Amino acid sequence: MQRQITDDVRRRRNYPDQPPLIPHSIEGYALDLNANKCLSCHSRKFTEQSQAPMISVTHYQDRDGNFLGGVSARRYACLACHVPQTAAPPLVENTFTDMDALTVPERRSR
Ligand code: HEC
Ligand code: HEC
Repeated sequence: MQRQITDDVRRRRNYPDQPPLIPHSIEGYALDLNANKCLSCHSRKFTEQSQAPMISVTHYQDRDGNFLGGVSARRYACLACHVPQTAAPPLVENTFTDMDALTVPERRSR
């Protein structure tokens, strides 16, 4: 198993709506029907204490875009979308190109 990167540095997203990568250790964090360790830092209620970035507003919306009072059930299983990163070399070649590299040069600095 490759070692996870846990340096607490938030990674740049490859496109604006990419689920951000987890930059810290999540070893032993409970995430089941009864407990969600992630929310004990990332929910709106606890961010002042934890200084963690709050889950964004989309996490409080149902699939029709209606706003809910609490975290949406479809955003409860954090690890379905957010993952830690390792320093392992890629197993297959990746030709992904950042949007910024595709736009015309004069617009890059905007
Ligand atoms: C003890 C508090 C704490 C817990 C528990 C916690 N986090 Fe975090 N999380 C943070 C903090 C603080 C940061 C800011 C970067 C850092 O310090 O690592 C962060 C950063 C992140 C980021 C990066 C956000 C960005 O904009 O780049 C993601 C994604 C994330 N956490 C997901 C999770 C998930 C998923 C879990 C549960 C498996 C979890 N966190 C549990 C405190 C926590
Ligand atoms: C269905 C996929 C999905 C699930 C499940 C999910 N997220 Fe996210 N998350 C995203 C996406 C996509 C973004 C970036 C775009 C956005 O904000 O919607 C994001 C953004 C974030 C951010 C950055 C917020 C910001 O404003 O910088 C944090 C922190 C985060 N999620 C934490 C969590 C935690 C904690 C959970 C579990 C309670 C969770 N997410 C569940 C997809 C998901």
